[in-house]
Amino acid sequence: MKKIGIIGVGKYLPEKVLTNADLEKMVDTSDEWITTRTGIKERRLAAKNEAASDLALAACRQALADAKLKPEEVELIIVATVTPDMQFPSTACLVQSGLGAKNAVCFDISAACAGFIYALTTAQQFLACGTYKNVLVAGVEVLSSVTDWQDRNTCVLFGDGAGAAVLSEVESGGILSTYLGSNGDMTELLNVPAGGSRLPATKETIEKRLHYVKMRGNELFKIAVKSMADAALIAVERAGLKCKDIDLVIPHQANIRIILAVAKKLGFVEDSIYLNIARYGNMSSASSAIALCDAVREGRVKKGDTILLDAFGAGLVWGACVIQW
Ligand code: ACO
Repeated sequence: MKKIGIIGVGKYLPEKVLTNADLEKMVDTSDEWITTRTGIKERRLAAKNEAASDLALAACRQALADAKLKPEEVELIIVATVTPDMQFPSTACLVQSGLGAKNAVCFDISAACAGFIYALTTAQQFLACGTYKNVLVAGVEVLSSVTDWQDRNTCVLFGDGAGAAVLSEVESGGILSTYLGSNGDMTELLNVPAGGSRLPATKETIEKRLHYVKMRGNELFKIAVKSMADAALIAVERAGLKCKDIDLVIPHQANIRIILAVAKKLGFVEDSIYLNIARYGNMSSASSAIALCDAVREGRVKKGDTILLDAFGAGLVWGACVIQW
């Protein structure tokens, strides 16, 4: 089996910062509630003229430069997103055009907060069996486009951003294991009800605010902790390792309390967990991708280190991935 690893990373965060103090002026909330219940202090919001493909494009350019690859050398582009520019074409095709990656095959993956891990896993399959040599993967969201700014239960949680990675064959290390899971029986816990073929846009769907995220956060919380802990254990075991062998855990950044509860279950100390939730909030598919890029750039991931990505989101979907850097 070929060894497949990440040879370049990139990210893009929109300039506009929305702080908890800003949110206090918009809904009945407080910095104290948001900080203690979620760990979030601020998040980024895309500008009016920035769509998912614009954010993804900027992150992809950085990842390609980091990997020292030309756009023409990319054979597959996978974009994980639940907030695409349009229902079709795929955001991956729009990124392809922006990059000039004319030799690439392109498609999107919809797996919400686990999207980046789903995309990495898919990329690994194509590379391991020799179909492609260089794959570009991005996780991107403009969650502000589906956020109800009148709903304090959800609007304090989300942010916009993009992260990207280039995958290729590597001499040593690379992706040691992946694990994905799904359960479609609980779609009512987290969804955007309207705008698809079930409820196309009408005056009524707009008046009822059905084009925004609806979430039963409290119920999701417990499932998130269990799913992420289970996924992490399975991925670590599949890699032939124990949790103590993991140098850095890069969890999906939905809620600091979820992350710490998972860490406690698995015996990870806080120092071995990468956190950027305070700066960016929950960016769904983009969160793991940006956290990975930040962790690498901040020197938290060194050559030879073993890292664990672990995520959970709408679907319900979850997944984990062990990588030796
Ligand atoms: N400010 C102040 N009070 C608030 C706010 C707010 N922004 N939001 C909710 N509250 C209130 C509620 O109304 C409730 O008040 P009540 O007791 O008077 O009814 C109280 O705070 C507690 O509400 P809970 O929902 O029980 O709060 P909880 O501690 O569960 O925290 C949260 C809510 C942060 C949403 C948490 O449940 C969570 O993080 N859930 C998981 C989310 C997740 O992982 N989603 C999946 C990934 S996202 C994706 O896939 C796109």
